[in-house]
Amino acid sequence: KKSVLHVDRYMKVGEVDERIYGSFIEHLGRAVYEGIYQPDSPLSDENGFRRDVMGLVRELGVPVVRYPGGNFVSGYHWEDGTGPKELRPQRIEPAWNVIETNQFGLNEFMDWTSLAGTAPMMAVNLGTRGPEDAKNILEYCNLKGGSYYSDLRIAHGYQKPHDIKLWCLGNEMDGPWQMGHKTAYEYGRIAAETGRVMKMIDPDVELVACGSSSLYMDTFGDWEDTVLSECYDQADYISLHQYYDNCADDTPGFLANTVAMDQFISSVISICDAVKAKKRKKKSIHLSFDEWNVWYHSKEQDKKLEPWCKAPHQLEDIYNFEDALLVAGMLITMLRHADRVRIACLAQLVNVIAPIMTSDTGAWKQTIYYPFALISKYGRGTVLHTVADTPVYECRYGDAPYLDSVCVLNENEASETAELTIFAVNKDLKESMELSCDLRQFEGYQVKEHIVLTHPDLKAANTQSAPDLVKPSAGGNAKIEGGILSAILCDKSFHVIRLA
Ligand code: AHR
Repeated sequence: KKSVLHVDRYMKVGEVDERIYGSFIEHLGRAVYEGIYQPDSPLSDENGFRRDVMGLVRELGVPVVRYPGGNFVSGYHWEDGTGPKELRPQRIEPAWNVIETNQFGLNEFMDWTSLAGTAPMMAVNLGTRGPEDAKNILEYCNLKGGSYYSDLRIAHGYQKPHDIKLWCLGNEMDGPWQMGHKTAYEYGRIAAETGRVMKMIDPDVELVACGSSSLYMDTFGDWEDTVLSECYDQADYISLHQYYDNCADDTPGFLANTVAMDQFISSVISICDAVKAKKRKKKSIHLSFDEWNVWYHSKEQDKKLEPWCKAPHQLEDIYNFEDALLVAGMLITMLRHADRVRIACLAQLVNVIAPIMTSDTGAWKQTIYYPFALISKYGRGTVLHTVADTPVYECRYGDAPYLDSVCVLNENEASETAELTIFAVNKDLKESMELSCDLRQFEGYQVKEHIVLTHPDLKAANTQSAPDLVKPSAGGNAKIEGGILSAILCDKSFHVIRLA
């Protein structure tokens, strides 16, 4: 097969907002306890933070981490996780049917984010709570002192405000599984009033309103329309959530989900802009794709869990090579919409549907770690319009291209250097693909590196005893001759072609 990429250095989609490489830590399973926090472990530091996990998080490159949920946040009392640990209550946690010990909370999370080199994206509870508690937590986090909650933070040992600027107005409020589930109108109103109070306290906060929990919700479309009609002035972003599975063991169909994701993003942009037009607004609403991943491997196992235990092995998907290909394709799809998708969170970060896994004796990288880390590292700068002439195959959404691709130009004015990176997935399971691209606009550019992630076995997975089964290598064959880039992309593979 052959594909031709057309790229023009002046045809820009938009700047990559680094927060597109965000992730997510929920009080769920072993994400917090035994994941990022394990005070009795020799692998942890004096705060109880797992050092090995911290190292892998830093290497992954996640500029923002959403917290504390997820479904969890819709019943959460944030105060329970503050103050002296011995006084913190143990509570039932109905979202995931477990006991929450509250030994890790808001202040520990803030300590962890600064050590992990990331920033918080905090969610407020709009399920069992509302504007009053959003007001209180914001006062606790962002005010200097001299008021009840800001003084309480100081009394808890945090003199300086946390100054958290990015907040989610609840989580998946369209979902009937959500504590405090609401109709679109009910949610739109509470989001508007919560947002109004929050911006009175700190006008610089950015707020994410809940969109649909998936493209396949019956309320999709009407939900976004009604919610934004109610809270357009207060919201800065609308969320999208989507998980894909390969339960049918149909890999071409599974990899074609990038088409569905692209349709989801385009549809939400259209609705945001329709509401903008109806309201004759200047401001545009941007997209926060704050839960995305593959999720299905652990679902049968999770049905067997006993209720009301602590930090069980829950949602512990073991990812394989084909999952890594889809994760690469999903990130490429979001980058192609960099003008509107400003925030995205790989759900989640550690142990729970995660790129990083832990045991009591170590931490390791799942297959999906690699495409994420590579794209986060090299996908900075400006996304260029990338048109691919590529063969297609039929899938349930219509035609799926065999090639998912995007080009990102990173120009550094200070050092007067520039780098063009092509990210590409060849979804063909049997045939390699000849890729070419006219780069004569990029005079003098040569191939700096061509990284490849491939494996003969689609189901190959990394484990603690074999952590390197699936990992990238620098073995690509891209070359430039007369300004024309050419490369052979082997069957079922992800590529990072770096040019400078
Ligand atoms: O990420 C796991 C769960 O998926 C989250 O708690 C919820 O928001 C979504 O349904």
